[in-house]
Amino acid sequence: MSTVEFRGFGWRHAGRKAWAVRHLDLRIEHGERVLLAGASGAGKSTLLAALAGLLAEDSGEQEGEVLLDGRPPRAAPSGSGPARQARAGTGIVFQDPQTQLVMSRAGDDVAFGLENRAVPRDEIWPRVDAALTAVGFPYDRARDTAALSGGEAQRLAIAGVIALRPGLLLLDEPTANLDPDGAQLVRTAIAKVIQDLDATLVLVEHRVDEALPLVDRTIVIGDHPDAVWTPGAALPSRQAVTTPGETLLTAESLRLPHNNTTVHEVVLRGQALAVEGPNGAGKTTLALLLGGLTKPASGRVRASSALAGRDAGRPPHRWRASRLATRIGSVFQNPEHQFVTDTVRAELSLGGAPASAVDTLLERLRLHHLALANPFTLSGGEQRRLSVATALAAAPQVLILDEPTFGQDLRTWRELVTLLADQRDEGRALVLVTHDAQLVDAIADRRTRLTR
Ligand SMILES: Nc1ncnc2c1ncn2[C@@H]1O[C@H](COP(=O)(O)OP(=O)(O)OP(=O)(O)O)[C@@H](O)[C@H]1O
Ligand SMILES: [Mg+2]
Repeated sequence: MSTVEFRGFGWRHAGRKAWAVRHLDLRIEHGERVLLAGASGAGKSTLLAALAGLLAEDSGEQEGEVLLDGRPPRAAPSGSGPARQARAGTGIVFQDPQTQLVMSRAGDDVAFGLENRAVPRDEIWPRVDAALTAVGFPYDRARDTAALSGGEAQRLAIAGVIALRPGLLLLDEPTANLDPDGAQLVRTAIAKVIQDLDATLVLVEHRVDEALPLVDRTIVIGDHPDAVWTPGAALPSRQAVTTPGETLLTAESLRLPHNNTTVHEVVLRGQALAVEGPNGAGKTTLALLLGGLTKPASGRVRASSALAGRDAGRPPHRWRASRLATRIGSVFQNPEHQFVTDTVRAELSLGGAPASAVDTLLERLRLHHLALANPFTLSGGEQRRLSVATALAAAPQVLILDEPTFGQDLRTWRELVTLLADQRDEGRALVLVTHDAQLVDAIADRRTRLTR
């Protein structure tokens, strides 16, 4: 049984002037399936945390009430791992699934939650296996969780909560890192679980059309209902209008170690290249190699002399980090783990960008009101935009972006796409590693596909 109620609810995170969410009155009946939509930063993840009992008293100020079956939700005692702290009966999957995995072996990670909730020994492994199958986890139980791709980690995190058979399932953009087939599979698994368990579902998702089959009702929070993706929303189309310029990077017989794929590829000035392919195909591996962040095991990455400057003849992975960032900018799938300063403005100024350029980026990516905020306290979508802005601030000739549109609402997505297309049209090269079909449609001039 799980009935959810917010009464005049508000929450202000410690250190913030603005309320993350305020004056919320909302009731969700037992067994209802609700989609929670709203602009990036509107407070969606904050509400899920409130329901899971994860908003600690000393981490902010509360107004009004949040009630679960008539009582304030309280988290389980700490020490049971970050994701599993939600009260028994509630399962939550966070926006960044990687923060959720606690064990080094995949099966143990799912079993861990069951052990914590004192599920009888002989039930544990069958439930673990069933959950892994339901989400299409492609490896056996012994798989090292540190070696999972972003999408694989997301599947594992979802398996972890499905196995718990919660009465209240809280999912924060659960399919954002998944390839289209994987996303469909996971949605089917979620639908089956809520049906079998007669559970209440609160699902956060920007792309309403993808989530609609799973829910009975959509609730939009915040002041910007126009930020919500609705079916048929008009999207920008920004293919290059000029022919591409010279070659900046060449991948020569570059081997992706995990699946023996060999890549031959060129990165051209004034062109946006999309790298597509299913979870685990090696897209991120390729991005790291092209970005000079890892050393090829076999084959090589060659930079043109125009790009390499005084490092001409030397491959990017041997350039000094400070020079690399001004030539090839990389945005990782989880750059959130790499913020190094304590304000958004400082993060953007790190590479020596002039204040006016920093202001423009803050403005264009709707981060201006957060200039003095600590990067680690930003919402998922805000962090994503900051990481893209940070790479742009260094004005590199090549931009390698791993899932740059992750977590964006319709407005911020449009702004991001326009900003990236402008970079390309100014003569930079873009490499877009992405599952976002709309992004590819909007700006990719050429596509390449990796397979598992
Ligand atoms: N731990 C925190 N400390 C301070 N401020 C925070 C913290 N977490 C979130 N915020 C702020 O609260 C507001 C709401 O954040 P929240 O993460 O709930 O948004 P969201 O709707 O989930 O956004 P997104 O779609 O980008 O994930 C944002 O302005 C964010 O910067
Ligand atoms: Mg969020």
